[in-house]
Amino acid sequence: MKLIMDLIVAVDNNWAIGNKGELLVSIPEDMKFFRQTTMGSVVVLGRKTLAGFPNGLPLKGRDNIILSTNADYKVKDAVVVHSREELLEELKKYSDKQIYVIGGGAVYNMLYRIVNMHTLLR
Ligand SMILES: NC(=O)c1ccc[n+]([C@@H]2O[C@H](COP(=O)([O-])OP(=O)(O)OC[C@H]3O[C@@H](n4cnc5c(N)ncnc54)[C@H](OP(=O)(O)O)[C@@H]3O)[C@@H](O)[C@H]2O)c1
Repeated sequence: MKLIMDLIVAVDNNWAIGNKGELLVSIPEDMKFFRQTTMGSVVVLGRKTLAGFPNGLPLKGRDNIILSTNADYKVKDAVVVHSREELLEELKKYSDKQIYVIGGGAVYNMLYRIVNMHTLLR
């Protein structure tokens, strides 16, 4: 089975992506690009990245798949998976949809080898 899985990340000149659980900077144009690009898609993210979203809520208009090792962790309006293997099994259900890996560091590290990457330089 082939998955359409891309990675989306904002990096600085040193490839840093965040600090102390926050984004390095908040750029409205980037936020807009992220929202428009991922809308209607499946997004894959770590539990810590979700915690940094407004009110810790999943992204609207997208199927949110959250990674956590905690078997008791539940998120309303999102699917929680507990390992890379469980994630890839879950993603088979979305083989007709665009999938975006949206962070953070631990999740990028785990998946960057198996996604398509498109680079947008400014
Ligand atoms: N610049 C960008 O584009 C961008 C995008 C997203 C995030 N960020 C930044 O990235 C930082 C957060 O990254 P992070 O690395 O600290 O955390 P993260 O990747 O968002 O989440 C890490 C958590 O995900 C779960 N997890 C990761 N791999 C797993 C696996 N194989 N199986 C099960 N669960 C797994 C674990 O949750 P449990 O602890 O619950 O087990 C782990 O603690 C923040 O600063 C954020 O602002 C930047």
